[in-house]
Amino acid sequence: MDRFVKNFILMSIVYLAIATALGILMLHNQSLMSLKFVHSHLNMLGWVSMMIYGVGYHILPRFAGRLIKSKTMGEVQFWFANVGLVGMLLFYTLETYNPSGLYKGLVIMFGIIEAISIFLFFYNMITTLYAKTEE
Ligand code: HEM
Ligand code: HEM
Repeated sequence: MDRFVKNFILMSIVYLAIATALGILMLHNQSLMSLKFVHSHLNMLGWVSMMIYGVGYHILPRFAGRLIKSKTMGEVQFWFANVGLVGMLLFYTLETYNPSGLYKGLVIMFGIIEAISIFLFFYNMITTLYAKTEE
């Protein structure tokens, strides 16, 4: 298993644990409901998407009889996905409790980094699955 694949799976489970803890705190303390976006995206971009990236990178090229187009791009995607997610949710939390134009700008900037990671996955996976030669 490639290192970035294992890392995606590890971080996916880490985000699940953090999101679950936050979910319980939200049930306990109604004021934390303002962090619903943080909980839902730790789950959807962290737990769910990263598990799919990891398992997808490992099995989909094999199912298609292809070699992954670029492992380096997979590594880069791993870092963009994690830096984007943590930055977006950190500055969203700061913005929630301390509204400022600066934090809002940073939320958008890290959101764009997260979106770039999604487009890297799109490109790497499509060019892998539709490569002309079978390996
Ligand atoms: C023990 C685990 C969990 C707890 C305690 C929990 C708790 C919560 C709470 C309190 C809310 C806010 C509900 C509201 O707006 O009234 C919420 C929303 C949400 N949760 Fe969880 N959650 C858990 C696990 C998960 C998991 C595993 C996922 C995804 C795989 C998930 C995805 C979501 C999403 C997408 C929302 C937003 C839904 C909406 O906007 O209506 N949650 N969760
Ligand atoms: C760069 C990536 C993404 C960005 C910037 C983003 C941004 C947003 C924003 C701004 C909202 C509205 C929040 C609000 O009403 O306060 C939202 C809601 C939601 N998004 Fe995303 N999203 C992204 C990716 C995803 C992905 C990949 C999924 C699912 C796999 C997802 C699932 C949801 C769900 C379930 C909600 C409704 C729950 C909530 O309000 O928190 N998002 N997203």
